Amino acid sequence: MKVTLDPRIAARIRAVAGLDMADNLVLRAVQRRISELGLSGMTDYSRLLLGSAAELTELIDLLVIPETWFFRDPAAFAQAVQAVRGIKGLGRRARLLSLPCSTGEEPYSLAMALLDAGVGEADFQVEGWDISLPSLARAQRAVYGRNSFRGQDLAFRERHFTAVEGGHALSERVRQRVSFHQQNILQLEAAVLAGQYDLVFCRNLLIYFDPPTQGRAIANLRALLNEQGLLFPGFAEMNTCAQHGFVGAGGAQPAAMRKASSHEIGREPKASLSRVQVLPRPRQGDSAGRGAASLPARPAQPVPSKASSAARPDNLLQQARQQADGGQLAAAQASLRSYLQQAPESAEAWFLLGLLLEGEAPVEATRLLRRAVYLDPAHYQALCHLALLCEQQGDGAQAAQLRARAGRVQTRADAGRADAGRAKPNEGR
Ligand SMILES: C[S@@+](CC[C@H](N)C(=O)[O-])C[C@H]1O[C@@H](n2cnc3c(N)ncnc32)[C@H](O)[C@@H]1O
Repeated sequence: MKVTLDPRIAARIRAVAGLDMADNLVLRAVQRRISELGLSGMTDYSRLLLGSAAELTELIDLLVIPETWFFRDPAAFAQAVQAVRGIKGLGRRARLLSLPCSTGEEPYSLAMALLDAGVGEADFQVEGWDISLPSLARAQRAVYGRNSFRGQDLAFRERHFTAVEGGHALSERVRQRVSFHQQNILQLEAAVLAGQYDLVFCRNLLIYFDPPTQGRAIANLRALLNEQGLLFPGFAEMNTCAQHGFVGAGGAQPAAMRKASSHEIGREPKASLSRVQVLPRPRQGDSAGRGAASLPARPAQPVPSKASSAARPDNLLQQARQQADGGQLAAAQASLRSYLQQAPESAEAWFLLGLLLEGEAPVEATRLLRRAVYLDPAHYQALCHLALLCEQQGDGAQAAQLRARAGRVQTRADAGRADAGRAKPNEGR
């Protein structure tokens, strides 16, 4: 029998959490909750959800996958360390916030990076906030399975963890530096919005929100930060922050943004291609239990071309990233265009070129990103950027379709890993 979604459920998710989710994704999550709770159907579930904040949190937890891992974007943590050193020079303790912190990997990475850099325990404190109580409970437990350790350099695990049954337990020294609290970024009380924080990491949340909700969330982030404070959004979220009063912190801080002064508001951020994340390919057999799903698998390297490597130096892409970060935007575009002449099937290069042109030529950027998506229909970041561009160009319907498609890409990847996990159970996380 075909089950249809009670529209009040989608409306409640949008009103409380600002989540702009396609109905089929919401329906899928609701069906899962109905089966987990042993309910008879949609009517029972609607009644439960509409009267229970706890159930709403459970459902949101299924929709916004608490996807995270340690040192997810190493450059951002390195820049956070530099910024904290500057604050230490001012003779006071630095206050850092990870919002959303999910299961804790991000705030704990901040604490580890600072301790490893020799910043004293008394010189900083980190808070982790998230809407999800189950995620926060996992963060407080601080025992992590292999999905939390995905980077190339895992030396930090030797320094700060002990192997235990079901994973690795974080040291007391790091745990002491981080406290966790349940907070909804859209419903913060005035007391916490008092401009207290020096650094706020807000990564991989804004992409789930519809544009008005993004504006509300970013206004709150602004209020959380002190005047010199730095915001660390996800790469795909920087343009959105730039539309709401933030500018790139510049120079050695390409992962960070600061509050724009009045004459800077509205200026486009400089593209920073070296910050485009190359998502790690999930390991064969990694489970996607509820907390362990990953973004879609896609090539960690540009799609190979038939041209010889002598004729198509792979380092042209790297060169383009460096040129863009050095402010040589025209040179970066030229590098990408010559790369594409020889490797026209490289979705990654079309995607990067599209990113470079997002500010100055949005229509052309849209065309380039479409090309990337045509070549790699599961290119999650290209789908997200395309959605943002469509929104900017007033095509909300198309943007919603693209977001839904990005959601499906993500869901398919999750399901694939869940199957792999059932075939070969993974250690806990
Ligand atoms: C993809 S994780 C991001 C974790 C981490 N920042 C990172 O980038 O690795 C998204 C998290 O956002 C949380 N979340 C969703 N809506 C929220 C809201 N309105 N307020 C606070 N957290 C929220 C979810 O519970 C989930 O843990």
